[in-house]
Order: sequence, then C-alpha cells, then structure tokens
Amino acid sequence: MIQHKLTIMRDKETGSKDFRQLLEEISLLMGYEVTRDLPLEDVEIETPLCKMTSKKVSGRKLAIVPILRAGMGMVRGLTTLVPVAKVGHIGLYRNEKTHEPVVYYCKLPEDINRRYVIVTDPMLATGGSASDALTMLKERGCKKIRLMCLVAAPEGIARVQKDHPDVNIYVAAVDDHLNEDAYIVPGLGDAGDRIFGTK
Ligand code: PRP
Ligand code: URA
Repeated sequence: MIQHKLTIMRDKETGSKDFRQLLEEISLLMGYEVTRDLPLEDVEIETPLCKMTSKKVSGRKLAIVPILRAGMGMVRGLTTLVPVAKVGHIGLYRNEKTHEPVVYYCKLPEDINRRYVIVTDPMLATGGSASDALTMLKERGCKKIRLMCLVAAPEGIARVQKDHPDVNIYVAAVDDHLNEDAYIVPGLGDAGDRIFGTK
C-alpha cells in the first residue's frame, strides 16, 4: 500500500489535497515500522473478566520533530498512531545555489533529551538538512533518534550514515540520483510546494 500511494504522489497530475492525504496515510503505515522495536514492559491490568499481565511501551516517551516545511506533512499520520507524542519543530531551508541548509527556527519539548525522537522529512536529497537537524538534536542531549523519510537519494543516505551512524533511517523508496539542482530523480518534485500548494 505504501508503494501504491507513493506512485500516486509522484504523478505530477496529483494535486495538493490528495498529495497531503497520501503523505499522511503513508506516514501512519511507516510509523508501524519506525515504532516496532520500542521496548515494552509488563503491566498488571484487570479486564472485565479477570486480571492479566499485558504489554505497554516502557521508559522513554516519543517526540516527533518535523523539519519545516515539508516534514510537517508526516506529523499527523504519526500522531494518529501515537496521540500522546510531543511535537518539536526545526526550521531549515536549502540555499538554492549552494544547496547548503540554513537554520531559521528551533522549538523543542523541554524534556526532548529523555524521549525517543522521530525526525520527519519526506525528502532526503543531499542529506545536509537531515544531518544538521540530527546534530541540533544531539547538541540538546538526544540519544535515541530515528529518521523517517519518504524518498531518498543514495547520496543522502550515505551522508546521514557517515555523519550519524547511530541513527536508523526509514524510507519508502531509494531513488536513482540527484540532478544538478540537487533534486531527487525520479523523485516527486518539491515536496513543500506540493504539500502547501505554493507553486
Ligand atoms: C526540502 C526537503 C528537505 C530538504 C532536502 O526542503 O523537505 O528538508 O529539501 O534536501 P537536502 O537533503 O539536500 O538537504 P526545502 O529546503 O525545499 O525547504 P521547504 O520544505 O521549506 O520547502
Ligand atoms: N527537496 C525536495 O522537496 N525535493 C527534492 O527532490 C530535493 C529536495
């Protein structure tokens, strides 16, 4: 279903309303993979029939940190899965000429260093934005971080693995290459513009 939905998102004829909806749906489905190995603990509860020992997520709670703007499109799918998750925001944009990320915003939950953090951004192109966001989180004491993207270029995966070998990366597709403007090919175009309808 993830591949089916991604194919519709890639199609240039797909408009913002469907693009947003599909990104939300894929994020929920990917959230299952991203959270599948969170540690569980036994708790005692009582069903209407009897007492039992059952499982709950133990220890650290979750925080979702979208990289603005496009990462916002993946938040609602994850909060549908984990309604109690806190949400932080990191604002980064790529300089159009150098393709280097520029930071313009950072607001994170106070206890972010005690949480499992899922960083979201649909596009992992050169990997510069994701790598800088992960560095910012580590500077604030975060130790358990996962990166969830939709489409990645091999170059972006290699960059994040080199800079942050401790961070697991989850992607729905690994595409062929980056073009001269550092856009992912075949990709889906500019994710932020397609989510928010700005072009
Ligand atoms: C896009 C995308 C990533 C970044 C990926 O954001 O959402 O954050 O580019 O590129 P990179 O891997 O080469 O760093 P963009 O800079 O277009 O900002 P926007 O989401 O605000 O449009
Ligand atoms: N950002 C996007 O939105 N798309 C790309 O292909 C690369 C960076």
